[in-house]
Amino acid sequence: MKIINFGSLNIDIFFRVNHIVRPGETISAQSIERRAGGKGLNQSVALAKTFDKVYHAGSIGMDGSFLKEYLAGEGIDTSYIRQSAAATGNAIIQVDDKGENSIVLYKGANFDNDKDFIDEVLANFDKDDILVLQNEINNMAYIIDNAYQKGMKIVLNPSPITDELKDFDLNKIDLLLVNETEACAISECEDIEKIIAFFRKNYENLKLVITLGSRGSIFVDKDNKISQEAYKVEAVDSTGAGDTFTGFFVAEFYKNKNIKKCLELATKASALSVTKKGASISIPSLEEVEKFNGEN
Ligand code: RIB
Repeated sequence: MKIINFGSLNIDIFFRVNHIVRPGETISAQSIERRAGGKGLNQSVALAKTFDKVYHAGSIGMDGSFLKEYLAGEGIDTSYIRQSAAATGNAIIQVDDKGENSIVLYKGANFDNDKDFIDEVLANFDKDDILVLQNEINNMAYIIDNAYQKGMKIVLNPSPITDELKDFDLNKIDLLLVNETEACAISECEDIEKIIAFFRKNYENLKLVITLGSRGSIFVDKDNKISQEAYKVEAVDSTGAGDTFTGFFVAEFYKNKNIKKCLELATKASALSVTKKGASISIPSLEEVEKFNGEN
């Protein structure tokens, strides 16, 4: 079994600020840092902390070769990362004193994945393999349809939510990981029990994880509903915490580990990532996660 993550690769520019800039306001940053990011890249890094055969597919510009080198350094196969004529995707990230963020994305090469390239990548994977997707690249519906026809198991973290999401057939998804806002947007419900009922009724075979911030997370399928409490930590930077959770959960889940243990490990990993600056660089090792003895 291999995991192929077809996902975004961004140059993250972090501005440390005491508050997120307001409309019409100009403020000074305390620091600026340029790092490897993108929901796709971050999730590949998190997947590879506990899973051996992780492949990343996607597109970068001339200015993005350090992203490919970074992934290779994390033990990820980068043969399916393509050089595009477009500039690499960029994210302008403000992080405030409470560790909360605000992000402006420039899609760039992330939206330069054409159908021939997608076919070429997917030709190397089959029904025993897992495809992981976020929502920061183009041709998502095409990737989902083709992978489904091959019988691959598809994992979707539909972040950030966009109008195109309605074109994705969630019946083709094996595991959907969403935060509360995303779950509300898809189900058009606000109450968590109504959200769960919506997914159970409309997508009978879907396995669903809803992350609820300080209230923890829930795994739901047609037979089970398993909850996990959050861990209390000193927040430094929440950027990439969701990606850390996704990577750890997915890698463990497809090894057929006990679901409660998968939730616990992913929750610990994302809690630890919040205690450090940055996105991909804040993702802890498996050893650090296993040693973590935090309080709920
Ligand atoms: O989830 C965090 C990521 O979102 C950042 O690394 C940034 O690139 C944006 O895609």
